[in-house]
Parts: sequence; C-alpha cells; structure tokens
Amino acid sequence: MRVAVYSAKPYDVQFLTAANAGHGHDLAFLEARLSVETTPLAADTDAVCAFVNDDLGAAVLEQLADLGVRHIALRSAGFNHIDLRTAERLGIPVTRVPGYSPYAVAEHAVALLMALVRKTHRAYNRVREGNFSLVGLTGFDLHGKTVGVVGTGQIGAVFARIMLGFGCRVLAFDPYPSDECRALGVQYVELEELLAESHIVSLHLPVTPQTRHLIDADRIALMRDGVTLINTSRGLLVDTLAVIEGLKSGKIGLLGLDVYEEEADLFFEDLSDRVLFDDVFTRLLTFPNVLITGHQAFFTVEALENIASTTIGNLTAAERGEPLPNRVVVD
Ligand code: NAI
Repeated sequence: MRVAVYSAKPYDVQFLTAANAGHGHDLAFLEARLSVETTPLAADTDAVCAFVNDDLGAAVLEQLADLGVRHIALRSAGFNHIDLRTAERLGIPVTRVPGYSPYAVAEHAVALLMALVRKTHRAYNRVREGNFSLVGLTGFDLHGKTVGVVGTGQIGAVFARIMLGFGCRVLAFDPYPSDECRALGVQYVELEELLAESHIVSLHLPVTPQTRHLIDADRIALMRDGVTLINTSRGLLVDTLAVIEGLKSGKIGLLGLDVYEEEADLFFEDLSDRVLFDDVFTRLLTFPNVLITGHQAFFTVEALENIASTTIGNLTAAERGEPLPNRVVVD
C-alpha cells in the first residue's frame, strides 16, 4: 500500500521503517499534521496513518474519501479524535493499536506521582544551582495511602498493581470491574466514594461524551483536601479551569499531567522560541506543585516497536482484504 504517514517524527520514521521490512508498503512520511489544509498531501495514496493530534473530523474524512483513501491506520490506542460514523458512512475502515505497552503509560503515571510527592522536579533545579536546602521539599510516604484508580483496563490494572506494591490501599471505579484486579486486592467502589477517600486519584479511562470533564468542579469538591491528581489518559477528562481553581484553593495539592485539553496546538512541537497564547496552559505552568509532560507516557522503545509492528500489520491485513482484528467499530 502507498501510505501517507502524517505527523511523522524522526522516531516514527525509524520504527515504522524497521517494522515495514518484509511488508513492502510505500510509506510517505509527512511532517505535517493532518487537517483540511493538508489532506491534498494524501493524493495518490491508499491509506493514511495518523496520530493522536491529527484532525480526523468529518470534513477531513470526506476529503480523504474523495482522494481515494481506503484505510485509516491510527498509530494510537485512543480514537476519540476520529469521527467514526463518518468513516463508516464513507466505507473507510479504521484500525488502531489497542495495546502496545500498558507498562509504559502506567510507569509514567508513577514517575509523575513520585516526582511530585518527593518534589524531585524542584530538587533537580536546586541542586544544579548549588542550593542544597531542603526547606519546602517535604514529601510524604506513599505506603499506607489510599490510591483511587479510575478505569482498570490494561493501563489502570498495571498502575493498580504497582501501587499495591508500594503498600497502598487501592480503590477503583470501573463499570466493568476486572477479576484480576479484585484478586490482587483492589477494592471496587462508586466514583464518589473513591474521590472522597483517595489521597491520590489517577485517571485511566477513555474520553467519551459521558466521561468528558469527568473531573469537574463538583467532583473536585468531593475530593480530600490536598489530593494528588494524575492524568495520563486524555486531557478532555479534566475541566482544566476547575482544576486551576482547585490548585488555587489548595484543594488539589499536587497535579501531574501528561495530557491537556487543548494539547493539539502545543504538544509534540518545539515551541521554545515562540510566545504561548494559551493562557490556561501557561497558568498551569506557574504552579510549583504541577508537573506536566507533553504526552510522552507511551514513549518507550518497547511501545514504539509494538505501535510500529501493529500498525504495519494492520495495513498489510487491509491490503490483503483479511479480517481486521484491530478495527475500531462504532458502538
Ligand atoms: P482500556 O480500554 O484497556 O481500559 C479503559 C477502562 O476504562 C476500561 O476498563 C473501561 O471499562 C473503563 N471505563 C470506561 N468508562 C469509564 C468510566 N466512566 N469510569 C471509569 N472507568 C471507565 O484502555 P487503556 O489502554 O488502559 O487506556 C486508558 C487510557 O490511557 C485511554 O484514555 C488512552 O487513550 C490513554 N492512553 C494514554 C497514553 C499516553 O501516552 N498518555 C498512551 C496510551 C493510552
């Protein structure tokens, strides 16, 4: 297949090229993000390969269909950024990478948590400046704390297991509880109870119309004073303005984010010599108790290899007209 690979970074080129050995797809790597302006770059291609911040709304899909694109291979697990109904109406199958390394994301959530709890992000800068004072760097033990895991699918289950290893009590909320988590000692409760009891709340669920702004002002009000909130899932799960109010009042004591509602205009690009116009994001950056990474939880060698091999496998199955086990279907 001839494939237009949008939002291609050097690591995408490296891992997809390696995975393509023996498959023979003609991969056209494009730095541009997919949008109504950049769809013409997919002319004369059979498939489009897209990432999390590419625009796969109705207008883009209509244009791609007109160009003859007959497959969309997402190189992500999440698929909230594609208008699946339009893709289905246009007869364009969509595949994704359902699980490439739950460990990568769960371990990054732990990395954010640990850095915040022990203030490592601040200690790093202090020591480099010859400031060895400990004043203001008091942390707390995770052992014995209550951790609330919202969503115990692949990633949430790994995160819960790690937290149990720290000696935490783990509460979870998921409409489909996992027997494996229960067997490990995870206790399923209603969301309200989880929020009220947890010292740490970590989000591991997809964003849907029902879960958009799941963490809003009302739910923040239910939380413990000084709660630690970690979001490595999707930015839209959290009402950022409500979180900022929670930080200002002290209700939220620590905040770790790998995702942000409006990240599409920021993340994955070097904007270090530009003025940032997102006043909400820049407000977040001013808090000493907030740690933000730019959607890098997935970014390990193991995950990149799995993403590349599954994506190339999806393209090969589509080319051969074989069943598509990783096809995303409309509910
Ligand atoms: P998964 O599909 O294995 O698990 C999601 C779980 O959420 C399921 O058990 C489901 O029942 C549960 N769920 C659905 N609605 C819920 C609700 N209203 N309340 C509580 N639980 C609910 O998904 P996986 O692979 O564990 O991914 C979790 C999240 O991590 C997704 O949002 C995904 O987009 C995100 N992600 C982030 C990455 C990053 O680099 N930051 C990389 C990969 C995934």
